[in-house]
Amino acid sequence: MSRRPSVAEQFHEGTKYREDQSFPPAPDLEAQPSPYKDFHCERPIDLVPDLPFERFPLGPAPYQEPRDAALLPPLVGRLSRVLFHTYGVTGVQEVPGGHHLFRAAPSAGALYPAELYVVPGPDSGLEEGLYDYAVHRHQLVPVFEGPFFDEVARASFSTPAFEAADALILLTGVFRRSSWRYHDRAYRRILLDCGHVLGNLSLAARAEGWRVAPTPAFEDGALSRLLFLDEREEGLLVVAPLVPESAVDAGGALLGPVRRSPATSGVVPVGESLLHAIHRSSRIERDEPVYAPEAPEWPPEEEQECQPPVPLGPTHPGLGGSFSETVIQRRSTRAFTGETVPREALARILDHGHRAASPGPVRLLQAPEQLAVHLIVLRVPGLTPGVYRYLPDTHEVLLVRSGDFHREIGHCALGQGLASEAAAVVVHSADLRAAIDAYGDRAYRYLHLDAGVIGQYLNLAAVDLGVGVSGIAGFFDDSVNRLLRLPESHAILYLTTLGSPAPFSES
Ligand SMILES: Cc1cc2nc3c(=O)[nH]c(=O)nc-3n(C[C@H](O)[C@H](O)[C@H](O)COP(=O)(O)O)c2cc1C
Repeated sequence: MSRRPSVAEQFHEGTKYREDQSFPPAPDLEAQPSPYKDFHCERPIDLVPDLPFERFPLGPAPYQEPRDAALLPPLVGRLSRVLFHTYGVTGVQEVPGGHHLFRAAPSAGALYPAELYVVPGPDSGLEEGLYDYAVHRHQLVPVFEGPFFDEVARASFSTPAFEAADALILLTGVFRRSSWRYHDRAYRRILLDCGHVLGNLSLAARAEGWRVAPTPAFEDGALSRLLFLDEREEGLLVVAPLVPESAVDAGGALLGPVRRSPATSGVVPVGESLLHAIHRSSRIERDEPVYAPEAPEWPPEEEQECQPPVPLGPTHPGLGGSFSETVIQRRSTRAFTGETVPREALARILDHGHRAASPGPVRLLQAPEQLAVHLIVLRVPGLTPGVYRYLPDTHEVLLVRSGDFHREIGHCALGQGLASEAAAVVVHSADLRAAIDAYGDRAYRYLHLDAGVIGQYLNLAAVDLGVGVSGIAGFFDDSVNRLLRLPESHAILYLTTLGSPAPFSES
């Protein structure tokens, strides 16, 4: 029996870009919200002296007195490097009246809706409380004092990761930073952005002897109240315990099952924006674990050219270069030359994107079994141009239909040359209805966060190999479905373009 569309399905349908619709007017530049918080604090903790280089891009942080490192616990130095490599300022562009800060993680429209908070563990040596990561000064700013750690753990279903953790990183989305420009569709981009940040966090933590064991499943209401979040403005999206490697090596699952949100009436009340409706309807209010969720059936491949899967070669455990150097030099490519990218490079990028966040005691992805990965090959010697499906488990590609689709994918990406001039475009999609049946409307968060995490792993591998890369979250949804021959039930989540980077030009 067909059921009425859930709020997540209505949100997805209502935020599609369509060829026959006009785009909303350009945003008022004067009204752009600040991309970071600026809490007033007499005694912030300066994190600059712990960076692995001499000069912080914005100069020394303004602090009252020189920091006495001996008074601070060793955790601070490690947190400094983790936060910097996750979301710190890695580029400064002078603009009229100030400067624009670029970060370690990419962000749709460079609007940086994610905000990072730190909750140190009770034995960390830092005063208990909630601290904001002041990205522009690279400081930790105490916001509230109190036993936050235990409360956050309790409202996150007290998974074993909390018992072992030295500190928690909380990721929120500040809605207006992105909705100012992207309106309700901002929610999709905020989740993708947070996924990118989480991807960085996982690798930055690893470099400091921690593993992140993130959970995007928690009691939203309880945590919003605890953190004094105004839920219309800011939503908690991920709670990420930093667990010492030794605890991970000791074995045992650190995370419990993924949780689902309850079925809702599916009604969006008059006057409520779609953005607020999806955030509300995907809330978790009680413990509803999901054990062994089933992977949805792959849609019928009537058009498939029935060729055997093509193996892409050996798999590798990680990046060739150092994560720190790669993330510091990372920038999204602004234009491709239209030249080819070697097949081996494409294979390594796909490998890193999909295998590095593998299951085990620490799980980065929440609903990977729901994701379908597609590849549009435009300019890769040794691979017939066409639409493929990528099979992460076997690291193989399956030709679905051959052809030169550079015009079609360029059109799908709102005419962006980044797509038509790419060598290949990776597309993540999911059967939204099946995912919602498994996880409730919370699926909408999981799917976009997962696609963002994979997007960041794809990005870093591409930068490491000298291949140009950029995410694309603005596309004509139904046109991508048609190009990939996917049924309407499939939601297109994210596009990652890969190609030969054109030299950067200011003009
Ligand atoms: C979720 C997401 C969506 C993006 N969408 C686009 C896009 O549609 N077109 C584009 O040119 N760049 C896109 N980008 C790249 C951003 O413009 C870029 O990350 C931002 O300008 C910051 O620059 P950086 O990545 O070089 O630090 C996207 C990035 C993310 C994370």
